[in-house]
Amino acid sequence: MTTAANEFRYLTHDDVVRTMSAIDVLSVVAETLRLHSENRVVLPEEAYLPWRSPGGAANRCLAMPGAVDFDDGFAVGLKTINASLGNTANHLPRSQGFTLLLDAETARPRLLMEAAHVSALRTAAVTALAAQTMGRKGMSSMGLIGCGTLAMAHLRLLAETVPTLTDVRLFDIDPVRAETFRGEVVSSLPGLRLKIVPTARECVADADLVVPVTTVTEGYIPYDWLMPGTLVSNVSLDDLLPDVVQRCDVLVVDDWELVSGDRRRLLGRMYHSGDLLPPSGIVSGQTGGPGTSVRKVDATLGEVVSGAHRGRGDDTDIVVCNAFGMAILDIAVAYRVAAAAERAGIGQTLSL
Ligand SMILES: NC(=O)c1ccc[n+]([C@@H]2O[C@H](COP(=O)([O-])OP(=O)(O)OC[C@H]3O[C@@H](n4cnc5c(N)ncnc54)[C@H](O)[C@@H]3O)[C@@H](O)[C@H]2O)c1
Repeated sequence: MTTAANEFRYLTHDDVVRTMSAIDVLSVVAETLRLHSENRVVLPEEAYLPWRSPGGAANRCLAMPGAVDFDDGFAVGLKTINASLGNTANHLPRSQGFTLLLDAETARPRLLMEAAHVSALRTAAVTALAAQTMGRKGMSSMGLIGCGTLAMAHLRLLAETVPTLTDVRLFDIDPVRAETFRGEVVSSLPGLRLKIVPTARECVADADLVVPVTTVTEGYIPYDWLMPGTLVSNVSLDDLLPDVVQRCDVLVVDDWELVSGDRRRLLGRMYHSGDLLPPSGIVSGQTGGPGTSVRKVDATLGEVVSGAHRGRGDDTDIVVCNAFGMAILDIAVAYRVAAAAERAGIGQTLSL
């Protein structure tokens, strides 16, 4: 049953988890990436509000609007996701927020839901789709750097969706976090060998799939650490050194406008310093080509997932997938969550 015009549905974290168990997040994300490649989305730039907490921690609030033109309806809304680097020490999740879904006809609120669960899942789904479409055939090993919320979402989803995965190396700058993380999953994922290693370099070495999910703002992974054939899903966006971007065989982004618009992150910095070109290869009259050290982005993930770009060339290619994180994925999943929660009567109805 849908809600009346002056009412909206509210879903807590537990409601979202319950509703998501009936939703195939991988296919919702794959369909949205395909619609992104067909320009059937609206994806304005996001607002970024940083501040220092009274206790001195680095905090931020992101406001991320987006819309998706599905065949069966128009999904439109806004995610706000807020984070404090001080939270971990206080045993709180680093990030939290809300996703607001609007009624496409009236623009009135239809659904308000806890955002972090879907945010982590849709990000893991992007990595899983990158692994399925651009990973080396039969990929068996993964290096997971950083053992927090995103790492957990990745490990659980990849264990399900990349069945050839058998070996996972874990590294966290805080060894207690790595031990706790391993302890939480080891019995529920008996098909995986989980090994904690003492350095990032050992985590990356010989891994078919490398997933940094840290909170660093300066790179530390050089090209030479990566073996031929590796796919890097650059989730936390700043762990790679520029030579990885320069020398990798295939460089894929989710959305060029988002990636190039953020000067705080590696690819945005490289673009603004003239070291990186958009997928079109042209910026301010400059073109990358033989004899220049300017690197061009090869494709968007939507183009790879929809088959418009081949992605990996051969088994020895080093592939980097730099998915900045698109609000349209949160909105698309929220649209499916709204319908499922309405059908199942999950959540509370609140008045405006
Ligand atoms: N690209 C996207 O779409 C997207 C989406 C969501 C989150 N993220 C990013 O993912 C990252 C992880 O998010 P989270 O919620 O899991 O954070 P979290 O705080 O729960 O976990 C981060 C972990 O990284 C560890 N860490 C920090 N620096 C490290 C280093 N140098 N080496 C190894 N480990 C280190 C921390 O100890 C912590 O355990 C954040 O940077 C976040 O912004 C990206």
